[in-house]
Amino acid sequence: MRRTEYISMAERLLDHVENKTTESAPDVYQVPVSYYLDEDLWHREMKNIFRRLPLMLAMTCEMRNTGDYKVMEVADFPVLMVRGKDGKVRAFLNACTHRGAFVAKEGKGNCSRFSCPYHAWTFNLEGDLIGVADPKKFGDVDKSTMGLTELPCDERAGLIFVMLDPNLTTDLDDYLGDMLPELESLGFANWEMYAQNELDSANWKLTHDGYVEGYHFQATHPETIFVNTMNNTMIFDAYGPHQRIGFPMHGIEELRDKPQDSWETQEKVSIIRTLFPNTSIAIGPTGGMISQLIPGTTPESSRTIQNHLMAKLPETKEEKAMADAGVETLKVAVRDEDYAMVFDIQKGISTGLNDDFVFGKNELGLHRWHSWVDYYAHDNPVAEAARPNP
Ligand code: FES
Ligand SMILES: [Fe+2]
Repeated sequence: MRRTEYISMAERLLDHVENKTTESAPDVYQVPVSYYLDEDLWHREMKNIFRRLPLMLAMTCEMRNTGDYKVMEVADFPVLMVRGKDGKVRAFLNACTHRGAFVAKEGKGNCSRFSCPYHAWTFNLEGDLIGVADPKKFGDVDKSTMGLTELPCDERAGLIFVMLDPNLTTDLDDYLGDMLPELESLGFANWEMYAQNELDSANWKLTHDGYVEGYHFQATHPETIFVNTMNNTMIFDAYGPHQRIGFPMHGIEELRDKPQDSWETQEKVSIIRTLFPNTSIAIGPTGGMISQLIPGTTPESSRTIQNHLMAKLPETKEEKAMADAGVETLKVAVRDEDYAMVFDIQKGISTGLNDDFVFGKNELGLHRWHSWVDYYAHDNPVAEAARPNP
């Protein structure tokens, strides 16, 4: 990350640690519990957020070479991403234009063309229909009009963004705003994928809530996150709907004893960046975890893909053992600590016996994130809903 940014974050965090404060909202924020259960609202979120905004669906390191592809389902929408001969990544609805079969199975791979498993129609890496089995039976097939349905797709800062509606256009640079140089400064384009885990969770918003506050570190993660990171001390920076949240590590006060120009970038500071609506990026000095929160097929379900990226893959046995331990710790912390909590909360709210939840002044990241969810979930946000202040 940029050094000047790090220094200013470390200074702000030191002030809070020394004064026993945390960055705060002016007031508390209440949300009705139905907000995590309501079927109609959930369908609006899927339609207006997940089918309307750019989603970070893949990382450059997953598909660096011509013919590398990745297939996934997001909120019941089957997506195929592939890098073409021209080096560009394109995204398509993963549905054959003959009779709709998935042209590629969920997962990743490399190929020179896609052959539909149902009747073997073939498509090139640019999505064009190039082969029809026994074409005479179809009369005059105009292949040029029967390519896969292409979706808007762009690659920035080592991340691949897709919109799940072929008719929409969004200026991705504008959407990412000042978060884009932040992401570029991390250098993901040259990083490598080390490991991936998939975890089940409950409602996607309940799941996301745990990513934007550090008020729970001591109680929920006493032997994992809290071992390194201080509790309930946070700084929040808004980038439109995206956020950067800084947390002090234990011993941050030692920085005061050293000249500022000897502080190592990110020393004693832990940072989470969120890309609206569903990506969380936690970066350390040599690697990081990018979490993709994918809603399931009901309001009560979601899954998270934890992607562990490294600037340089481990080479020695010791380096590998250390990397594996880091991957395992984050899997256990999130699955057995955060998400176990989320499943319990979902059970409690499903009884209908709680009315509201309250976000404290210290949970500013939640205030901001939920304001943006409300804004974008609206059927016509630009005209009818108030755009949140950053
Ligand atoms: S559905 Fe793909 S070839 Fe028939
Ligand atoms: Fe947590």
